[in-house]
Amino acid sequence: MAFIMEKLNIAMLLILVYQQILLSSSKELYQGHQERDEAAENKHKELFKGSSSKPTTPSDKDALEEFYHSTAGPAWLQNAGWLSGDPCQSMWYGIRCTPSGDVVEITLSHNGLAGQLPPKLSEMKNLQILRLYDNYISGILPISMFTIQSLIVLDLDQNQLSGNLPSVISLPYLTNLSLASNQIDGFMPYSWNCPNLQSVSVSSNNMIGPLPSSLSKLPKLKYLDLSDNIFTGPFPPEISALTSLETLLFQRNRGSSGVAPTIPESWHTLVNLKNFQVDGLSGDLPDIFDSWSKLEVLKVTFGQLTGEIPMSLCNLKSLQTLVISNNMITGTLPSCICKLSSTTMTSIDLSSNHLTGHLPDCFGSLHNLTDLTLASNNFSGNLPASLGACSHLNSLYLAYNRFTGSIPYTYAKLELKTLEIQGNKLSTVDDGLEQFFTGISFCSLYDNPWSCPLPTYLSNNTNCNPTCSKCNSLDKHTSCKACVSSSECGWCTEGPNCLEGTNQGPTYEYNCEPSNWIYGIEAACNK
Ligand SMILES: *[C@@H]1O[C@H](CO)[C@@H](O)[C@H](O)[C@H]1NC(C)=O
Ligand SMILES: *[C@@H]1O[C@H](CO)[C@@H](O)[C@H](O)[C@H]1NC(C)=O
Ligand SMILES: *[C@@H]1O[C@H](CO)[C@@H](O)[C@H](O)[C@H]1NC(C)=O
Ligand SMILES: *[C@@H]1O[C@H](CO)[C@@H](O)[C@H](O)[C@H]1NC(C)=O
Repeated sequence: MAFIMEKLNIAMLLILVYQQILLSSSKELYQGHQERDEAAENKHKELFKGSSSKPTTPSDKDALEEFYHSTAGPAWLQNAGWLSGDPCQSMWYGIRCTPSGDVVEITLSHNGLAGQLPPKLSEMKNLQILRLYDNYISGILPISMFTIQSLIVLDLDQNQLSGNLPSVISLPYLTNLSLASNQIDGFMPYSWNCPNLQSVSVSSNNMIGPLPSSLSKLPKLKYLDLSDNIFTGPFPPEISALTSLETLLFQRNRGSSGVAPTIPESWHTLVNLKNFQVDGLSGDLPDIFDSWSKLEVLKVTFGQLTGEIPMSLCNLKSLQTLVISNNMITGTLPSCICKLSSTTMTSIDLSSNHLTGHLPDCFGSLHNLTDLTLASNNFSGNLPASLGACSHLNSLYLAYNRFTGSIPYTYAKLELKTLEIQGNKLSTVDDGLEQFFTGISFCSLYDNPWSCPLPTYLSNNTNCNPTCSKCNSLDKHTSCKACVSSSECGWCTEGPNCLEGTNQGPTYEYNCEPSNWIYGIEAACNK
């Protein structure tokens, strides 16, 4: 007996450790679950108040017993009541029943369930809610689960289920289908007959194929998460029928066959979209933002988007996050960008595109801006002085452009945590910025032709690492007084202002491991 107990304890410990690992890797998901948990718990209390008077329907009881055995019931974190007495009458943990003894809910989330789902579960003819997220259930997801006509919520997120989804799903009451973070493969069902379905999440599986146009037959769909699979384009224009859709997530799909999908013009009918996060797109961004007027988050990254930033984007009155990074967008940053909401707008990232021209100097109106990322473009001209009025600004990434001139004194009152402006053509720093620079935790000024001497607080600033014009990449080997070079590394040892050759070692571009640097005037790379 003692031996068995010890084994159980070890199993439990292992489960807890494993859960910790899962938790830390998916905190966001977990928070969502915690909320859902509370809701479920409250529902529980309600139901148990009216604890059923009649004994449980025999077929439900059989199914529960088989379920218990096939998912390691004795090792569950909580299993109070199970297998003793009647499920409904003795209130087995996680079970909810009707007064007539039909089991309508099984909620056993993060409860250490392991093993397989028995097909017998699908014989529970009145089951409405099956919530088993964050367990270790493995094996094939029995297709028969999709025959339980009474199902309203099926939530099997974060298990190890494999197999395919059925090609047809007809569940008249189903509102929420969550199968995220499993190992399900195969295609999306090609036919849906689920008039009440509001939420579908199959993210983080191995599903393949293009999206079936039949998804458009879900009139109440609000939430669709297809991220982290192997789906491919093109996107069906028919999705335009999903006029209730609020969230569409299609990120990191690894499908490589086929061309990157474009956003069909017909999608302008998705007037309730709030959250659109789709990467790997191609073509131009369609000018449809006047119809997507409720948009709060627009994230289109890692694709081949071309064309300019559509003007209609500036009319998004509720936009909070704008990310169009790692694409091939051309043109300038239109000054209408400053007409975005002064209260909601917090984050703009247009990095790694082909944007050119001067930045508009109108950022003062974006009071709540916290992050501005325009790095790796071809912007030129001065740094916008108006940014100094964005008092919530936390990070400013403008690296690898062609900005010239000075860091403006208007930035004096900013309390930046991060400033990256390396790889530009900046040459001076206005007076009065000492305080500003001391507050910055992550600061990169290198690869700019700073006219030295810079103020001492900067020239000795090993956090920011400003480089003198003499160490500027173009002329570092020719005009430097003391230039060290070898076949692997070469850098200037001109003095404290020069990154290449100060005791900070060479810049990243010399490909020298920090542990190999030889510091000081004899600086070299010890390979
Ligand atoms: C079902 O999905 C909707 C839409 O995403 C969501 O608001 C709701 O909280 C979900 N309900 C349950 C019970 O999970
Ligand atoms: C945004 O601005 C409004 C008004 O200026 C302010 O009340 C609100 O707290 C700000 N929000 C954030 C996140 O700073
Ligand atoms: C950047 O702009 C300059 C003109 O301002 C142009 O000569 C150069 O080719 C552009 N570079 C890229 C990578 O687009
Ligand atoms: C700055 O660095 C120079 C050269 O290393 C040194 O002589 C000087 O004392 C330093 N100044 C301050 C204020 O640390």
